[in-house]
Amino acid sequence: MNWAILHSPACTAIWEVHEDEAPLWRYWGPRLPDGALPPCPLRAERPEPSFSLHHDVPLSLFPGIGMGWFGVPALAAHRAGADWTHAATACRVETVSADTLRFHLRDDVAGLAIAITARLDPATDTLTLATTLTNAGVTVLDVATLAAACLPLPPDAEEVLSYTGRHNSEFIAITDTLTRSGWRRENRRGLTSHDCFPGAIVTCADGTAYGAQIAWSGNHAQSIDWIDDGRRQWLLGETYAPGEIRLAPGESITTPEVLATVSAQGMDGVNQAFHRAIRARIVWPGGAMAPRKVHLNTWEGFYFDHDLASLKDLANAAAQVGIERFVLDDGWFAGRDDDTSSLGDWWPDPAKYPEGLAPLARHVIGLGMDFGLWVEPEMVNPDSDLYRAHPDWALHVDGRPLLAARNQLVLDMSLPQVRDYLFEAITALLGTLPIAYLKWDHNRDLTHAGNRASFRAQVLGTYTLMARLRAAFPAVEIESCAGGGGRIDAGVIAHTHRFWTSDCIDAISRVNIQRGFLRFMPPELMGSHVGACPAHSTGRMQSMAFRSGVALPGHFGVELDLRQLSKADRAELGQAITRYKTWRDRFHHGLVWQGEADDHVVWQAHGQPHDLLLHATRFAPTSWRHAPHLRLPMLDPTRRYRVTPEHGEGQEIAGSWLMRVGLALPPMPGEAVLIYTITAI
Ligand code: DGJ
Repeated sequence: MNWAILHSPACTAIWEVHEDEAPLWRYWGPRLPDGALPPCPLRAERPEPSFSLHHDVPLSLFPGIGMGWFGVPALAAHRAGADWTHAATACRVETVSADTLRFHLRDDVAGLAIAITARLDPATDTLTLATTLTNAGVTVLDVATLAAACLPLPPDAEEVLSYTGRHNSEFIAITDTLTRSGWRRENRRGLTSHDCFPGAIVTCADGTAYGAQIAWSGNHAQSIDWIDDGRRQWLLGETYAPGEIRLAPGESITTPEVLATVSAQGMDGVNQAFHRAIRARIVWPGGAMAPRKVHLNTWEGFYFDHDLASLKDLANAAAQVGIERFVLDDGWFAGRDDDTSSLGDWWPDPAKYPEGLAPLARHVIGLGMDFGLWVEPEMVNPDSDLYRAHPDWALHVDGRPLLAARNQLVLDMSLPQVRDYLFEAITALLGTLPIAYLKWDHNRDLTHAGNRASFRAQVLGTYTLMARLRAAFPAVEIESCAGGGGRIDAGVIAHTHRFWTSDCIDAISRVNIQRGFLRFMPPELMGSHVGACPAHSTGRMQSMAFRSGVALPGHFGVELDLRQLSKADRAELGQAITRYKTWRDRFHHGLVWQGEADDHVVWQAHGQPHDLLLHATRFAPTSWRHAPHLRLPMLDPTRRYRVTPEHGEGQEIAGSWLMRVGLALPPMPGEAVLIYTITAI
């Protein structure tokens, strides 16, 4: 018996390793001191309970089925009805590097080889797990489920926070109490989805929080189940349709990665580790993130109504208020006058752009802005030249009707000829026009993904195309969008640089959407735009100050027809853009904390504990006579701080006072944002 141990500054993972079974989970939690080990092997401290198997099967990294593990198995697979019981018969631990172990398991009875890679990254405090299953038998192995990660949760785990939603209403928080009944969230929509974010955060009675998210843009599931020793097992991974994964002898499948972290600092600590881990996955043009440029997106201002002269006017107005990137959204390509046609025909509409996009792109660039373009590569309208030429390229099942959504079908991204077509079509744009940015959309769920289910191949095909385009055009940034926030995940971010958070730009709705987003993703990836008044998605009206204040901490943009703004609003927007440029480096680096003061005030703080930018939002009018205090738990009680409102005199306040009593807020209008700097003296 051996211990396998990984430490990072804030986390520790310990497994008990035997040569003839999967590694047993002994600990995953806040950092233990070096040398703090289990006092004895697990079975030595738990005598056989009554009426139980003589062979105790505790929670392992790869729980089996039919061989004494009565919880949820990591694998469900068979060979024509046989070889369905699974239990590792051999285990070897490979030290890949100081922070990475690989557990090589074999099940010589079922004919399986399993490799689980566990990396506890010291820079991010994130445990990354992924599993490779190889069919070591001589017949086909049908795989129904294969977990990417099986994690232990301690007995005092109390609640799990997850997110649901829909188009225009992303990141609705659900808090479930953990009981002895199981908890499960599953997404079968074929892409990441609005209604089931692929991650969750578990909070414990002692204040510790555990978080995990699946780096995958397809079907996924996670479950938390109570187990016999009072702990819980948290399984996360991709899900497969029946018959989707059939491994030939020698063939392997590797799951997506799961990013998992734990923090004694609670939810904020988990969020901060996720932010670090996500930041580490991004491949920026030039090797590092440049200041996040202010966007003008044409969608809500123009929709499909493209007219070169008006768009040039818009660009002029955009440059005047300080916008830095002009993104031409849907409506620019052949025959695309509404959402009934043309997806797939990725060349400029000759009626709207008789000389192509070059005149507009040149105009935009001449004004000092980047030029960006919207595409939706995985989609095709039946009314398109592409579909007329290649109807067989759309996902379909013989004998069943095609199921359209937003009048569109989905291309089979597993087909190399489809990917080649899209690569050539997009290359024809990126290679001939000065395009610095692609907004990559995906506006429907997947239904029947092929005669033989190919949901997984769909995701991998898209990743392959994205990677090929990135390799060919490394200077081009990509935004991940799917009808707003339907493809926000740690998988696609390896190929992209921004998420479109939601088509709902109503600032009141955005407060909670963005707070949910920040639980998993860092602010610089959060597309946050100032929309029109009234908001197109809700009809609600908010002041320019409030709309721009709510958008401020994210990757700021403007999505309205600037030409229609009053002089006063235009001036205020210009000031908001200047404000964003002043603060963006502070918002987009460092740590994020989120909290709630009383009385309809929420806040987030960005930076480091000794040097913070505080963003406080009142989202409804007060019912109190006196404004609430805002407590800042991350400060050092032994230090004093200079607290300076954005417009006004600073004052010196003790850290312990700000932690325990809080910062006295001034009276605020019913919808308002305040900014403070808080710096240790
Ligand atoms: C959905 C996106 O979320 C919007 O921002 C816009 O790009 C439309 N699609 C265009 O069809």
